[in-house]
Amino acid sequence: MSGYIVTGGAGFIGSMLVRRLLREGVGKITVIDNMLTGHEENLAEVRDGVDLHRVDICDYDAIAPLVRGAGTVFHLAAIPSVPRSIREPVPSHEVNADGTFNVFRACSEGGVGRVVYAASSSAYGDTEVLPKVETMAPRPKSPYAVQKLLGEYYASVFYSCFNLDTVCLRFFNVYGPRQDPTSPYSGVISIFMRSVVERTTPTIHGDGEQSRDFTYVEDVVELCLKASRAKGVAGKMYNAGNGNRYTLNQVWSTLTRIEGVDIPPKYGPPREGDVRDSQADTTAAVRDLGHAPRFSLEEGLRRTLAWYREHGH
Ligand code: UD1
Repeated sequence: MSGYIVTGGAGFIGSMLVRRLLREGVGKITVIDNMLTGHEENLAEVRDGVDLHRVDICDYDAIAPLVRGAGTVFHLAAIPSVPRSIREPVPSHEVNADGTFNVFRACSEGGVGRVVYAASSSAYGDTEVLPKVETMAPRPKSPYAVQKLLGEYYASVFYSCFNLDTVCLRFFNVYGPRQDPTSPYSGVISIFMRSVVERTTPTIHGDGEQSRDFTYVEDVVELCLKASRAKGVAGKMYNAGNGNRYTLNQVWSTLTRIEGVDIPPKYGPPREGDVRDSQADTTAAVRDLGHAPRFSLEEGLRRTLAWYREHGH
């Protein structure tokens, strides 16, 4: 067993985190992934550095021996997607809520040094004020948002009641290479990437003026690492965003400009459970964790597009 464990390590963000950890030379990384949305291919060229366990976080007895004694557990395994949690609330709850409880319990009983938990910006819901700051009252609008928020509360209580060192990072619409565009529940940028590469028309839900703090995956991964090592942050929660916000119309027009094509999008009805605007206040993460996002939206889109072109999605 290694000192570092990544649940969801075969997923899009997890596999990037595994690569980042391997570059630190910290030894083999233990990955726990049930391969529901993860793919072994995501770990292709780093496979030798990974101890991969095809295990579901819903199976407490399977994960407990894997995490026992680990230095750091990054808990990223989840069934993502707001609409998926509305259409299929049971599996989404089982994994995101019960599975997360299992991970914290196993880490607590197994004497893990620190757990970094991938929380979600969806916990804020619609707020009157932007950017969104950690002290705001949460207003979840979907089962997914409730489940991720519950994970934060458990992280905080596992710290206060059981002395498990936890840090929560609220991820803000992470995008980048290896994000799977093939599901109806895929993140919007991965869907846009596929459309632009295949020259097909994307559907925008609503008027396209909803905005997001799109955050490039490498910036999030860097912050995960910083959160795993920062002092005096146990039991706390931080925004893990870029600090900017762009509308879907802006993202599509930037992407088509980079690609040099002119494809007007189609507009459909707004999506249930959708938040209108999202933008992170990064002050606390900068101050306490040394957060320093490096990628502008345009730079992140260019890098992501280069990957999708090469990998032919
Ligand atoms: C939410 C969270 C995000 C989390 C993600 C997990 C918020 C603000 N963000 O993302 O932190 O990581 O869940 O899944 O709650 N859209 C289209 N056309 C498409 C697909 C999507 O217009 O083909 C629109 C959606 O209606 C939405 C926006 O794009 O307005 C972003 O959607 P998506 O990428 O699914 O992420 P969120 O639900 O915002």
